[in-house]
Amino acid sequence: MSSVTETRRYPPPSYYEEVSNLPSQAEASPAVPGVDTPGADPGAGLLGAGLLGVGFLGAGPVTQAIHLPSLARLGNILEVRHIMDLDPAVAESVAGRVGARFSTSMDELLADPAVDIVAVCSPHQFHATQVIAACRAGKKAVLCEKPFAMNGAEAAAIAAVSAETGVPIIVGAMHTFDPGWLAAEQAWGELPGQVHTVRSSTVLPPNPRFEDFATEIVGRAAAPARDSNDPEVIKAMLTGGVMGLAIHDLPLVRRFTPDFADVEVLHAEIVRPFGYVISLRAGNVTIELRAAMNSTWEPSWAFEAIGDDAALGIDFTPSYVQAGSATARIRTAGKTTVLGPFGHNGYEGEWRHLAGLAAGTGTPPAAETLIHDLEFALAIAEAAAGRVGTDNDSEPLNEEQEVSA
Ligand SMILES: NC(=O)c1ccc[n+]([C@@H]2O[C@H](COP(=O)([O-])OP(=O)(O)OC[C@H]3O[C@@H](n4cnc5c(N)ncnc54)[C@H](O)[C@@H]3O)[C@@H](O)[C@H]2O)c1
Repeated sequence: MSSVTETRRYPPPSYYEEVSNLPSQAEASPAVPGVDTPGADPGAGLLGAGLLGVGFLGAGPVTQAIHLPSLARLGNILEVRHIMDLDPAVAESVAGRVGARFSTSMDELLADPAVDIVAVCSPHQFHATQVIAACRAGKKAVLCEKPFAMNGAEAAAIAAVSAETGVPIIVGAMHTFDPGWLAAEQAWGELPGQVHTVRSSTVLPPNPRFEDFATEIVGRAAAPARDSNDPEVIKAMLTGGVMGLAIHDLPLVRRFTPDFADVEVLHAEIVRPFGYVISLRAGNVTIELRAAMNSTWEPSWAFEAIGDDAALGIDFTPSYVQAGSATARIRTAGKTTVLGPFGHNGYEGEWRHLAGLAAGTGTPPAAETLIHDLEFALAIAEAAAGRVGTDNDSEPLNEEQEVSA
């Protein structure tokens, strides 16, 4: 049985105490700070601060289909001013949509005084270098798409530079900024102490479907061909599944396993054409991570935290889709409390939070929380990949399906 043992105890995450903190939101909904009300002006509290300039490092599908539509709704506080991509045609085309400058050089973007906030949306292997460079360039805040580093050492280096320069960083784990999640966190009381089972279950169409719903994508890379019977490919799919998809919910999972001392993966297998089924234990909590990305269209993204006397269930809106917030249900004896849906989703929540940080309001997530979230994800990914070939439980579920994506 594969297992990864951490030698130290992890303190409770402090990430989640830092709800979206624009003054207008607190005013709009004083009972649940960070949660908006219909019609509330998302940026009213920052209007006096003037527009904040945004620059993107990497202008692929996530920039085009997720972030630019989110920013289009926040034009009273944020303005896209510079788009950088290694592919000049992509940089020019995407910049042209929003009337921004374009370049193919990170240094040029970081030297641009019009850029206050840097969004790192390049492939993951470049994240750490670019986040550190943005901090050193003296920008006001950095958004780094997930995962924000490839290993614990990189994460620690980022945290050190952020502390040294005072530049706040947030990671694009959008569910942690979703008003439905934030409202649940404020309302769940003693729930975390009694949760024994956590489930994250995702069914999504392939990303290009949602990307194409949102906009006309330029420069999309072709999906690489792969033999998903090859054990090394299976390992890579499990690692990629955890670090690319499950990672959105692992900071939420960790909210219910804050003090875990070890991560033990009990079962791990891939689902074709892309997905995974992973069971693990962390501390006293059993965790099930499931994902299936196939040719069906109807999305479902559910998160559950189950205790004997209370439980939390959240239905998230799918990634890429700007469809309002998650809806949370908190069940206690004889009572179910429904929270949401609220008017914006976690992507917009990220940007609201960033704008507040860049304007000098609010508190950034604790660096150690981001590091521990990453270490938690890496431990699961490594242990899941480590099960491949051990006892056949890493075999694909649907042998008859065509390999694609
Ligand atoms: N939050 C979410 O829901 C979500 C969903 C999917 C992906 N992501 C993350 O977003 C990021 C971008 O994803 P994507 O699908 O747009 O990726 P992608 O790899 O398809 O596109 C990235 C873009 O970066 C460019 N690029 C390559 N090297 C670069 C460099 N060194 N500097 C600047 N640009 C460079 C490429 O030309 C491309 O246009 C990834 O980190 C990914 O993990 C987030």
